Amino acid sequence: MTTRIILGIESSCDDTAAAIIRGNAQNGAEVLSSIVMGQNALHADFGGVVPEIAARAHAEKLDHCVEQALEQAGMRLSDLDAVAVTAGPGLIGGVVSGVMCAKGIATARGLPLYGVNHLAGHALTPRLTDGVSYPYLMLLVSGGHCQFLIVRGADDFSRLGGTIDDAPGEAFDKIARLISLPQPGGPAIEACAKSGDPTRFALPRPLLDRAGCDMSFSGLKTAVLRQRDALMNGSGALTKRDQADLAAGFQAAVVDVLAEKTRRALDRYLELAPQKPSLCVAGGVAANMSIRAGLETVSAKMGADFIAPPLVLCTDNAAMIAYAGLEQMDLRVPDGIGLSPRPRWPLDTTQPAMLGSGKKGAKA
Ligand code: KG4
Ligand code: ZN
Repeated sequence: MTTRIILGIESSCDDTAAAIIRGNAQNGAEVLSSIVMGQNALHADFGGVVPEIAARAHAEKLDHCVEQALEQAGMRLSDLDAVAVTAGPGLIGGVVSGVMCAKGIATARGLPLYGVNHLAGHALTPRLTDGVSYPYLMLLVSGGHCQFLIVRGADDFSRLGGTIDDAPGEAFDKIARLISLPQPGGPAIEACAKSGDPTRFALPRPLLDRAGCDMSFSGLKTAVLRQRDALMNGSGALTKRDQADLAAGFQAAVVDVLAEKTRRALDRYLELAPQKPSLCVAGGVAANMSIRAGLETVSAKMGADFIAPPLVLCTDNAAMIAYAGLEQMDLRVPDGIGLSPRPRWPLDTTQPAMLGSGKKGAKA
C-alpha cells in the first residue's frame, strides 16, 4: 500500500492545530509533527470561548502553525500528498478559517483536499495511536461532545446515544465557575474533589431511570447551583470544605452516570460484535482519573479491553484529522475546492439530531 504524507489542519474550537503524518490505512501512520496553539489567555476574561475572537485568532495563527508543523517534521509543502482539514462540526468562524487555509495550500500545490468530520478524527484516534482494528465502541467525552459510537470503518459510525444538553467537560467548567475554581474546570474540580466528601450533598444521577445511553448534565449543574446558593445564603461564602464537598459530589455523580451508561452501551455493542469487546475513549474529560477508573471497572466487568490514547492525542489536535483523511482517501474522491464548512455535521445521519449548542458550537 502506498505510503502517504498528509497535512492535517484543525480549528473548530479554541485550538489552532496543524500536523504532519506519514503512513497508510493498512499499516498505520506515524505522527511526524503535531502543533497545537491554544487560545486560553484570549478567552480568559470572558468565562468561555468567544467565537469571533477564536475565528480571528485562528486566521492569524494558521499559517505559522502549518509552517511549524512542516519544520518540525523536516518537510516542505512539495513533500505532501494531500491536505485534510476539519470541515465541521464546530464554531463556524474557526471552521471557515481552517478550510480557507487548507484550500489555499491544496490549490497552490495541486493537492487533493479532504474535509474531515472533527468527531471522526476523535473516533479514529485509537487506530492511529494503538492500531485498534474495527469494530470498536468509542466514548467521546470532551468539553464539546459526549457520545457513544460503534466505529466499523473510517466512514461507518453508529451513534448509540449521547448527551441531550451539556457535554461533561462543559459541565465541569460551569461548576468550577459556580464554586469559584479556575478554568479549565475539569482539572481544578478533580484536584479540589480529592479532599471532599462526595456523600455530603444528595445530587441527582440524571437519566439513569431512562432506558438507553442518552445522558443529561444540565440538571446536575442546577442541583449543584441550588446547594451552593443554600450554603451562600447561610454563611455568605463557601468554605474550602464546602468547595471540596461540592466538587467531590459533582464528580461522583458524573462518574456514576458515565459508568452506568457505558455499561449499557457495551451491552448493546456486545450484542452486535461479541467477538471483539473493546471500549476506547477520547476527549479531555478522559484525563479524569475517577472517570477513567469508573470506565475501566465497567470494561473489566464486561470482559472488554479499555483503550485510552495518550492525552495529547485525546484532546483536540490535527494529527487525528490528518489520520482520518488518510483512511478516507482510500474510500472516496477528494472534496476539492468546492468543500463547504458544516457547523452541524452528525456522524450518524440515521439518528435524530442532538439538541443544544455547546462550547464547541452547535452539537452534531
Ligand atoms: O477534548 P478537549 O481538550 O477539548 C474539547 O472540548 O474538544 O476537552 C476539554 C475539556 C474541558 O471542558 C476540561 O474542563 C475537560 O476537558 N477536562 C477535564 C479534565 N481535564 C480536562 N474534565 C474532568 N477532569 C479532568 N481532569
Ligand atoms: Zn474535539
